[in-house]
Amino acid sequence: MEAKMRKWWHDKVAYQIYPKSFYDTNGDGIGDLRGIIAKLDYLKELGIDLIWISPIYKSPFVDQGYDISDYYGIAPEFGTMEEFEELLAEAKKRGIQIVMDLVINHCSDKHEWFQKALADPEGEYADYFYFREGKDGNPPGNYRSYFGGSCWEPVPGTSKYYFHAFAKEQPDLNWENPRMKQDLYDMINWWLDKGLAGFRIDAIINIKKDVNFPDLEPDGPDGLAGYHRAVEQTNGVGELLEELKNNTFAKYDAFTVGEVFNMHEDELSEFIGENGHFSTIFDFSAHCLSEGEHGWYEAPAIEFKEWRRAIVDSQLEVQKVGFKANIIENHDEPRGVSRFLPEYARNAAGTKMLGTVSLLLRGIPFLYQGQEIGMQNCEWNNSGEWDDISTRDQYQTARKAGLTEKEALRVCADMSRDNARTPMQWSSEENAGFTSGTPWMKVNPNYSEINVKAQQENEDSVLRYYQKLIALRKSEEYKEVFTYGTFAPVYEEQESVMAFYRISEEENQETPKKRVLVAANFGREAAELPLEYKVSKVLLSNLPENQAGEKLILAGCGVMVLECEI
Ligand code: GLC
Ligand code: CA
Repeated sequence: MEAKMRKWWHDKVAYQIYPKSFYDTNGDGIGDLRGIIAKLDYLKELGIDLIWISPIYKSPFVDQGYDISDYYGIAPEFGTMEEFEELLAEAKKRGIQIVMDLVINHCSDKHEWFQKALADPEGEYADYFYFREGKDGNPPGNYRSYFGGSCWEPVPGTSKYYFHAFAKEQPDLNWENPRMKQDLYDMINWWLDKGLAGFRIDAIINIKKDVNFPDLEPDGPDGLAGYHRAVEQTNGVGELLEELKNNTFAKYDAFTVGEVFNMHEDELSEFIGENGHFSTIFDFSAHCLSEGEHGWYEAPAIEFKEWRRAIVDSQLEVQKVGFKANIIENHDEPRGVSRFLPEYARNAAGTKMLGTVSLLLRGIPFLYQGQEIGMQNCEWNNSGEWDDISTRDQYQTARKAGLTEKEALRVCADMSRDNARTPMQWSSEENAGFTSGTPWMKVNPNYSEINVKAQQENEDSVLRYYQKLIALRKSEEYKEVFTYGTFAPVYEEQESVMAFYRISEEENQETPKKRVLVAANFGREAAELPLEYKVSKVLLSNLPENQAGEKLILAGCGVMVLECEI
C-alpha cells in the first residue's frame, strides 16, 4: 500500500465502553466518567489506543442513552462536563484518544426540538421531524419500527403522526431540513473542538427517507412491513453523508466508524474507500448470520463453516477498498464466546482462539468491555430480568408467534442485548467489584470465576493473552504486516480450521516483506496440517500441545501465530 494512503488511525486498537456498566465510583449502581478515568491505566496496559464511549449525553434512557435529550450536556448519571474534560486530558496523557457516539438519525422525544414541535405542530420545529397527516384516521404508512409496532405515532391533539424508526420516544430527525442539519453540524464541530478523535455514528443509513413513505408488502401477521425494507430500497444517502463529512469530520481529520446495515452491495468504496463517507464501518457479516426472518425466535444457530465463509468473503472484498472495523461483540449483540464458539470451546483456550482470529484479521480491531476477560452470556431466569427495550419486544413477538414462555425465554436469553450490558466483572468481590451499591442491571453470576483481578494474577489467563496479542499486533516488527498485510485464506478444505496468511508487501528496507500464518482449530480433536512454508518463529500459541515443526499440529481449540519463511 502506498504511503500516501496511510491514515493515522489504521494501526489503532479500539475498545468500546458501555458507561452504565463499566465502573461505578459513587455507589449509585451506575457506571460513571470517574469510573472510566479510574480504569485508564488498566486500558493502557491492555494496549488500547482509542476508546469509543457509548452515549453519555443527557437522556431519559428509554433506549439506554441512544435517545438524546440534550446533545450539549453530559447525563448527570455519568458526571459533569468538567469530568468529561478531565477524562479527555487524562486519556491524552496516556496516549489514548476518545471517540464519542453520535446519534443523529433521531433524538429523544424529550429534546427541546421535539417539545417545541409538539407545542406547535405547524411551526418551524415540526419540520425538524417527519410530521404527516394520517390516512382516514389511520397512520400514514405501514412500516414496522425496529423495536416493534408502527413507525407512526399520533401527534397529540392533531390528525398528524410523527415518524420513528426505533422507539416512539426516538422521533426521527428530518434530514431534508437544512436548518436541522446545520444545527447538527454545529453540535458535532463543538465536540470536535474539545479534542475528540472522532465518532462512532449510530444507525446512520436510516437518515435518507423516501419522504412519501410508500406502503410496502406486509411481511408479518401485524400487516406491517419492516422499515429496513424501505431503507434497502432508498437511494441517495451518499449525498447526505458527504455533506455531513465535509461540514464536520473532514475539517478535523477525525476518525469515523459508521454503524451501517442494509448498505447496497456496490457502495462499499463510496462508504470506506480512500475518500469515503467514513473512515471505516463495522463488519457485521458474521453477526447477520443469525438474523431471523421475523425476529429472534427464528434466528438460526451459527455453523462454523458459514461463519468462516462470511469472514473470509468479507476480508477479501474489503481489502480491495479500505478497512472495516472488526468486532466479536458490542452492546447490541450477545457475547461472542457464547455465540460463535461451540459449547466445548467456551473455555479459556477457545476464548483466546476466537480473540486471536478477530484481532489479527485485516481491519481495525474493536474490543468490547469484558471481551478481554472472556465474559459470556448471562443466565436469565425470567423475562422480568431484562431492561432492554428490544429484548422485551422480541419476547412478545416470540410469544405471539406461538412459543411457550420457556421457549421464548430461551430464544431471547441467547440473543438479548442485555448479555453485553451486565456489569463489567472486575473482581470476585460483591457485585463483581463493579459497585458498592445496588447495580442497575443484573451481574452475571459467573463473576467469581471470570474477573479481571483473578486474571491479572494468572499469567496464563485470557486477559494476559489479550495483552500479548495486542502487543504483538502493535509491535514495531509486526505492525506493518498486521496493519497493511494482505489477507489470504488457507486450509479452507479443512472441516474445522480457520486459517489465513497476512502478507506484507515489499516496500523499503526498513519494512521487509513478511508472511505470518494465523491458524485456529475450532474442532474438539487435534488437527494435523501440512505446512506450505517453513516456520521461522512462533509468535503466539494458546496451548502447550500445539506444535509447528515439519507439520502443524493444533490441539482442539488450539491457535498459533507463526512467522513463515517467504
Ligand atoms: C444503534 C445502537 C443501538 C440503538 C439503536 C437506536 O443500533 O447501537 O443500541 O438501540 O441504534 O439508536
Ligand atoms: Ca455512579
